[in-house]
Amino acid sequence: MTLIQQIGPPETEEQILARLDASEVLLEARGLCVDYVTESGNIRACDDIDLVLRRGEILGVAGESASGKSTLLNALGRLQRMPAATSGGEILFHPGDGEEPVDLVALDEEGLAPYRWTRISIVMQSAMASLNPVIRLGEQFTDVIRTHDPRVTEREALQQAGELLSMVGIGEDRLTAFPFQLSGGMQQRALIALSLACDPDLVLMDEPTTAVDVVMQRQILDQVLAAQARLGFAVVFVTHDLSLLLEISDRIAIMYGGRVVEVGTAARLHDGAKHPYTQALRRAFPPLTEPIRRLSGIPGSPPDLQDLPTGCAFAPRCDAAMAICSQRRPELRDIEQGRSACYLTNGELSPAELAEQQRARDAARTAEEDPA
Ligand SMILES: Nc1ncnc2c1ncn2[C@@H]1O[C@H](COP(=O)(O)OP(=O)(O)OP(=O)(O)O)[C@@H](O)[C@H]1O
Ligand SMILES: [Mg+2]
Repeated sequence: MTLIQQIGPPETEEQILARLDASEVLLEARGLCVDYVTESGNIRACDDIDLVLRRGEILGVAGESASGKSTLLNALGRLQRMPAATSGGEILFHPGDGEEPVDLVALDEEGLAPYRWTRISIVMQSAMASLNPVIRLGEQFTDVIRTHDPRVTEREALQQAGELLSMVGIGEDRLTAFPFQLSGGMQQRALIALSLACDPDLVLMDEPTTAVDVVMQRQILDQVLAAQARLGFAVVFVTHDLSLLLEISDRIAIMYGGRVVEVGTAARLHDGAKHPYTQALRRAFPPLTEPIRRLSGIPGSPPDLQDLPTGCAFAPRCDAAMAICSQRRPELRDIEQGRSACYLTNGELSPAELAEQQRARDAARTAEEDPA
């Protein structure tokens, strides 16, 4: 049975928003900035990121290579290491039950310890880099479970480990296996099961299926969605593959040049992406459910973060770019169904100003095409 058959027809915009509005906020990034400190100067890989994640929500983050997705994910989990450093903003974690939100940016390693695994866990792209190859799988589970709750006995922890593994389709007999004895897909599934060991509120996933083949990718996604429906954790799922996110996410944030340029429900981005960059990504990654058609890549290449253009970073590659786009950076503003950082849709220009910019752009193009 395919994923689509399992989860039924996609929810409409209204259904998604009604469901998300009914649930509380779990994590909020406010003005989050992350820099890589290098000899040739600082590289701002996440610039002024504002994002809200609700309990139980699946938030997809898409964008081409070097758009800052992994940097954002690591920052949200407070897992970034030098040369990366959070240089501004807040990450507010809402524990629920009436407790005040906690700014994770303000906590040191000791302060973060109670949040790791039990509140927030992370699944990296390469399972072998995360699993210890020379420690048996069962022991890696019992270590994590018992470190975070010493009251759990070894036997109970092993039983939990077996249940978690079976949730991702791995038999309990594998508890005695070493990670190197498992196939790549199985390692990745074991890592996902391990991320759920302490029943977290949030699982951060960085391209968890890009290293496996397409059939295995579907299986893993099915299992993640089934586990998510059962346990209710929220997910931030990072990938360059927008078509995949359209299927599995509630909402999607699109990143370009270290900034979020559009946010919307999967239902809206499916048919009504507002930002020209999202539209280009959409053409480059059509949903698997659509008839096969010719793919179109995005001409040009992503910007150099050390040498960003003055205005909109996408303007040099954008067919719809107007004069103002390369003069002043558009703000990420609330629009009717999400957020957009494009003058065409974010309401920063009055209708008359927008019409004038478009008229001037079209006139300049005509003059260029037909100099006579
Ligand atoms: N270790 C590092 N040192 C210096 N700069 C870095 C480092 N890691 C990342 N960067 C900078 O941050 C930018 C964003 O990197 P990041 O890994 O977050 O992108 P990404 O969107 O996850 O890309 P990909 O799809 O290839 O995984 C890079 O283009 C680079 O300029
Ligand atoms: Mg990455």
